[in-house]
Amino acid sequence: MPMDPKKAYDELVRKVRNLHYITSVRGLMVWDQRTYMPKKAAKFRGLQYAAIAEYAHSVITSPEFVSLLEQAERGDFSPGSREAMNLYWLRRTYNRTVKVPLDLRLELIRTTTETEVIWREAKEKDDPSLVLPNLGEIVRLKREIAEHLGYETEPYDALLDDYEPGLRAKRVEEVFSYVREGTVALLRKVMEARESGKVPKRIEGKFPVIDQRRFHIFMLREIGYDLNAGRLDETTHPFAVRITPGDVRITTRYKEDDVLDGVFSTLHEMGHALYNMGLPEEWFGEPVGNAPSLAVHESQSRFWENVVGRSGEFWEGFYPFLQAFLPTLYDYSLEDFLFAANDMKPSFVRIEADELTYNLHIILRFEIERNLINGKMEVKDLPDAWNSKFKEMFGVEPPTHREGFLQDIHWYSGSFGYFPTYTFGNVIAAQIRAKIMEDIDLYSAIRDWDFASVLSWLRERIHSHGALYLPEELVKRATGEGPNPKYLMEYLREKVERFYS
Ligand code: CO
Repeated sequence: MPMDPKKAYDELVRKVRNLHYITSVRGLMVWDQRTYMPKKAAKFRGLQYAAIAEYAHSVITSPEFVSLLEQAERGDFSPGSREAMNLYWLRRTYNRTVKVPLDLRLELIRTTTETEVIWREAKEKDDPSLVLPNLGEIVRLKREIAEHLGYETEPYDALLDDYEPGLRAKRVEEVFSYVREGTVALLRKVMEARESGKVPKRIEGKFPVIDQRRFHIFMLREIGYDLNAGRLDETTHPFAVRITPGDVRITTRYKEDDVLDGVFSTLHEMGHALYNMGLPEEWFGEPVGNAPSLAVHESQSRFWENVVGRSGEFWEGFYPFLQAFLPTLYDYSLEDFLFAANDMKPSFVRIEADELTYNLHIILRFEIERNLINGKMEVKDLPDAWNSKFKEMFGVEPPTHREGFLQDIHWYSGSFGYFPTYTFGNVIAAQIRAKIMEDIDLYSAIRDWDFASVLSWLRERIHSHGALYLPEELVKRATGEGPNPKYLMEYLREKVERFYS
């Protein structure tokens, strides 16, 4: 029986919200798993995730759901409205869900769950032969999924679209070739300066975890992270999670011999959390209540970690406090600390890379995964391809595969098309910086601890819109143009000038 489109919409949204209240509990489970969960809980936790996933799948693919969706789509909601965009995202999710057979999804989950374990062993033993057959199987499954999803020019686009709606490999290639060329030139400058003795002093000492934690909490409060709507806990691979609008948690890690690592992990995750705290609360549970993409999310973490957190103005204010919390640092001047925080040099491992060389790590991964998915490279050729590309970009070859193609979990857990979002996050962050500087005196605000005016700019231009726009459109509205790598390279050029000239 046909229903009034408005009524169908309301019923659909009620269902979607209820589903989200159930699936958002997964966030709490993930947080628990990576912080305090007892070891023996792992087996049944896996079954719990699977049951939630199966339930969500059954709701979205139910005849009732699609019928409500179709009837709601007959409504005359104005284009770009909250209603229209909710329907847009729900249609997208529905189509992508039904296009891929459930068997294929389950086979991928089984294969990746098994592969993650094997990958850990292969990495530890530095033995590619252990994991290559499994990776081959994952690539085969992902290619098959891409065929089911459909694409216009290349299979890789179908997978990229999962993380970055609307983004295409061709566009990534354009942006990346610009970033690559500029970065290689800047890196040459940095290396020359380093050879002539411009190298930061290593910040050494013993930094008790409890004192680091006290400083982190202090810093979070001063910047504006609401500790009554979140927590800071410890983990090995830091992450941020939004369980509900009033529960946005972050995690970090503390190294007793490295004070910088923890500080920048916390600032990064805080950037994600500030975004999550700024998403429209009344839209929670609806598709428009989320961020539109991973790159936009990453732009917020990189903005706070790098643009704000690695600036001299930031540490002018915070360094005296960091020294007071960790008196070992009285042996190092503000400039020593700042230079160490902005150290740039080639490294083998992505997660240890600096702001400049980081993007080269991403570009390498993009080129390889695109070839793998498009069938232009076979998995057996991956170790050699990695090493020769690495040599081409950095001038050296990784001494081990552990520091080479085995370093990141992404491919072994089935994530292809994810890596480019990191560099797009950097691109957008630098673009936001350029734009925000037209409106406010950004660095004076940072020096004066006026984080509220920085945050309110981000809230107004980015956070408060949720997923009302596609990522490209959101960036255009916030900054006047779509993602443009020019601003990232200008920003990095200034950094290199500041520290290495
Ligand atoms: Co991040």
